[in-house]
Formats: sequence, C-alpha cells, structure tokens
Amino acid sequence: MKDVLLLTGAGQIGMAIARRVGAGMKIVVGDRKIENARRTAKIMMDAGFDVASMEMDISSRDAVRKFIAEGQRHGEIAMLVNAAGVSPSQASTEDILRVDLYGTAVLLEEVGKVVKKGGAGVTISSQSGHRMEALGAEKDELLACAPCEKLLELDFLRPCNIPDTLRAYQLAKRCNVRRVMAEAVKWGERGARINSISPGIIVTPLALDEFNGPRGDFYKNMFARCPAGRPGTADEVANVAELLLGPQGAFITGADFLIDGGATASFFYGPLRPESK
Ligand SMILES: NC(=O)c1ccc[n+]([C@@H]2O[C@H](COP(=O)([O-])OP(=O)(O)OC[C@H]3O[C@@H](n4cnc5c(N)ncnc54)[C@H](O)[C@@H]3O)[C@@H](O)[C@H]2O)c1
Repeated sequence: MKDVLLLTGAGQIGMAIARRVGAGMKIVVGDRKIENARRTAKIMMDAGFDVASMEMDISSRDAVRKFIAEGQRHGEIAMLVNAAGVSPSQASTEDILRVDLYGTAVLLEEVGKVVKKGGAGVTISSQSGHRMEALGAEKDELLACAPCEKLLELDFLRPCNIPDTLRAYQLAKRCNVRRVMAEAVKWGERGARINSISPGIIVTPLALDEFNGPRGDFYKNMFARCPAGRPGTADEVANVAELLLGPQGAFITGADFLIDGGATASFFYGPLRPESK
C-alpha cells in the first residue's frame, strides 16, 4: 500500500502540481473526459510516476465517492489536488455552478471525511473571485457553511439572478475560498490541512479557450498590462502548491493564495482599473 494522491481535473495545472509532489505516491487521476485522464496518466507514467486513471465528475457525489473508494484500494488518502473546472467561455451558468461551485464543495467535504492525519489538499480557485465586490457577511457565511445540497437553492445562486457566465464563475470561485475556510476546521480535526490557490491567467487549454472566446481581448489586455506583463505557467502554480502541500506549509490551512502577476492589484489600483480603459 502507498500514500494516495487524488487528482481531479487532468489539465495542465493539475498535472503540474501532481508531478511536483506525487513522486513515490499512488496517483489516482479523475476527469469528466476519460481521454484527458488517460493522457495525463500516460505522460506521468512515462516520467516514472505511478498513476491510475478513472472517469469521474466532481459534480456527482456518487462519482466522487466511487473515486475516493478507488483511491483507498491503493492506500490511505494523503493528498487532494482539485484542478477540475470549467470556464466562462466553455460552459453555461448552470454547468459552472454545478461543477466549479457545488462539485468543489462536495469533493472537499467527501475527501475531508477520509483524509489521513498529516494529509493536505489544494483546490484551484481563481483571481476572478477576487475582483468581485464584497458580498457581505451573511452571503459569505452561506457560501462557507450551507449544506452542499442546499447551495444551489440559495436565492443569489439561482441562474435567473446571475446575469452571465463570468458572474457565475466569480461566485463559484468566491465560494471555493469560503468553503476552504470552513472545511479547514473539519480537516483540522483529522490533523489535515486544506488551502486554495487563485491563479491569474495561466496558459492552459482552458485559458486558450478564453483567449479565443468573446472576452479574448479583455484577457490579452489583462496580462499585457499587469505588473508581470505576461501570463503565468502551470509550473508556477505548482511552486505555490508544493509549499502548501509539503512540510514547509504545516502552519498554513484555510487560506487562499493569489498568484496572478499582479493583475488584481492593477485592477484595483493601476492601469487595469475598469474606469481607466
Ligand atoms: N488557466 C487559467 O488561466 C486559470 C485561471 C484561474 C483558475 N483556473 C482554474 O484552474 C482549474 C484547472 O484549469 P486548467 O486551466 O488546468 O484547465 P484545463 O482545461 O487544462 O483542465 C481542466 C480539466 O478539468 C476537467 N473537468 C471539467 N469539468 C470536470 C468535472 N465536472 N469533473 C471532473 N473533471 C472535470 C476537464 O475535462 C479538464 O481536463 C479550473 O478550476 C480553472 O477554473 C484556471
């Protein structure tokens, strides 16, 4: 038996993190598109990692439980890397809420019930949630603590109250950060930690869909005019994840880390301010 790393979302960010921390572990990679899970598993196995792949959908509690059970056949669940998600140009408001918001909440809850002592997890949120206005204490608490099965019944999360897919994505990512705070308390009772990372524009197939989508110019302007002057890479996200998942991160839990080349700073206080366009 080995320590198990559960990787959900077989995209670039997930793979970069799993490669950074997964040596010596059994990595079980799940993705809604089995071909993505298999492709990532093959690349990683060719590089010496021990990987099994599985079709799974984080927006189904049943699928999440089966995925965890598959992991447990190989050993105790020591790490979670959740990099499954859909973006505003790829999906409908309903799909974004079901996958990015509800699915993440279910996954954190289910893994939090079984993670081993000393275990750790990261979930990928987004800078998008950081540029939305404050929602207030009442909504924040609901996003953090409402039972998963009630989340999508909240009035402010009903699709008829959400103007577009970008807003749905921002709400989902804000929810991820709040959920991580509440889950950190429960994971802590098991001696485990959970954090989130909020990347800015990271070049991956998901971001390329955004560059080629209706908000393409907006995104290209964002990375050109942010302090770093470029988009980021999945490996730079893995730098942060390595700290959060490893022993150097032992005092970090329930926290969110913005890694966006300064785009959010510029959105509030620099040339990316909406009014200065
Ligand atoms: N790339 C960026 O610029 C960027 C920025 C901020 C946040 N993010 C977030 O990072 C995460 C990973 O994105 P990425 O850029 O690596 O994209 P990616 O497209 O490379 O990978 C995402 C993977 O998630 C899978 N997936 C989608 N829905 C799923 C579901 N319901 N269950 C299981 N798997 C599912 C997809 O099939 C895909 O393989 C997402 O949550 C995304 O919102 C990305």
